[in-house]
Amino acid sequence: MALSSYQAKDLFQWFIDKEDIVVLDVRNSTDFNRFQVESPYPFEMINVSYYDFMETEEECVAKVPKGRAIRIVCAKEGSAKYVGEILLKHGFDDVCYLTGGIKTWGNLLVPKVVKESDDYTLYQFIRPGKASCSYGLCSGEEMMLFDPSRNIEFYIDFAQKKNCKIIKTFETHLQADYIAGSRQIAEKTGADFFGGADFEGTKAGNKTVTEGEIHTFSKSGPEIKVLFTPGHTPGSLTFIVDDSYMISGDTVLIQSIGRPDLGGKVDEWAVLLFNTIQKVAKLDESLYVLPGHYMDWNEANENLIFCQTFKDVQQRNKEVFSLTDKNDFIQYIKDHMRKQPPEYALIRLANGNMEQYDPDKQEELDLGKNECAATAYAQAQAAKENG
Ligand SMILES: [Fe+2]
Repeated sequence: MALSSYQAKDLFQWFIDKEDIVVLDVRNSTDFNRFQVESPYPFEMINVSYYDFMETEEECVAKVPKGRAIRIVCAKEGSAKYVGEILLKHGFDDVCYLTGGIKTWGNLLVPKVVKESDDYTLYQFIRPGKASCSYGLCSGEEMMLFDPSRNIEFYIDFAQKKNCKIIKTFETHLQADYIAGSRQIAEKTGADFFGGADFEGTKAGNKTVTEGEIHTFSKSGPEIKVLFTPGHTPGSLTFIVDDSYMISGDTVLIQSIGRPDLGGKVDEWAVLLFNTIQKVAKLDESLYVLPGHYMDWNEANENLIFCQTFKDVQQRNKEVFSLTDKNDFIQYIKDHMRKQPPEYALIRLANGNMEQYDPDKQEELDLGKNECAATAYAQAQAAKENG
C-alpha cells in the first residue's frame, strides 16, 4: 500500500463528518503544545515526534493504534512522509500525510453561508487554525470583504467563482494577532480598502471612514453602516449589514469581548471600551453578531456558523454587560489581563505597512491561535501554561 496525502480542507471535512481518524502529530512537543489542529468535535490525537521515531522506532510505532485511519501532521511535510513510510512498513494500511504541513491548516479558510436572499449572500470564512472569522458580502456581480486574512488568493478565487468583482475591503481594526489581507487584496484587485483611526499615521494606504456612513453596492444590495466602537483598539469599527447583522470585529465576541490592553494603555482603552459597550447595548437585540474571533466551537450555531443573536450574546456575557459602573468595568478588565504574545507588536507593524517581512517570517508570525478576547481564552491559556 502506497502512502497517500491529504489537504487541510480534507482534514476539516473528516472532522465535520465525525470520521473515525487518529491524528498523529510528529512535531516536537513544544511546537505541538503551541499550536495544533482542532475540531468542532472530540477526536483522537497523539503526539510522537519524528525524532523519537528515528531513535526508537519500535517503541513509537507501538504508540500508534493499529487498524485505524492514521492522519499524520508535521511542520512541512517531509517528516510526516518519513513516519508514514515507517508505519506502512509495520503493517498499517490507511496512512496519509498532510500536504504542505501544519501551516496549510493554519491558513485554511472554510466558507459558510450565513444568509442567502435574492438580493445578497453573506458568507463567513472560518479560519479554524486561528479561531478567527472574516466575511464576504456578494450582491449582483460585486463583493465586499471584511477582515480578510493573508491567504488572499483564497478570497480572489472565491470572488471569481461567484462571478464577482471585489469592490471594497474593510478592516474592523488594526489587527495584532494575524496578518491582514485588505491592503494586498486592494493592490491586486483595485478594490477600495477602508480602515478606521487605527490606521492613521501608518502606510497602509487605506481610505478612512466616518461614523454612521453608509456603503452600498452599485445596483441593489444591502446597506452597510459604519459604527465607531473604540476600545479593543482606539479605531475599532463595527459594520451593520442590512440592519440585521453586526460584523463586530473584536469588539463584541460571542463569548467575551475584545481585550483593551493590547496597546499598553489599558486605562485609556478600557474607558473607551466601557463607553462602546454602553453604546452597542442599545442596538437592536435581534441583530445577529458575526464576530472576528471565537474561543471555542461551542459558540457556533447548529450549522457550525459563528452567528448568534445579540440578545443571546448579551445573555452569555451578562458578567460584562451588567457592569454599568465605569470603575467596576476597568477593574474587571484588569482582573482578566495577561501578557500578550511578543509577535503582536511585529504583526501590527506589518498591518500598518510600516515593516515588510519576507513570506517565511510572515508565516511564522501569523501561525497560532488568537489572544484577542478578554476572558475565556485567557483562562484556558493560563491553565495550559501553569500545567
Ligand atoms: Fe484584534
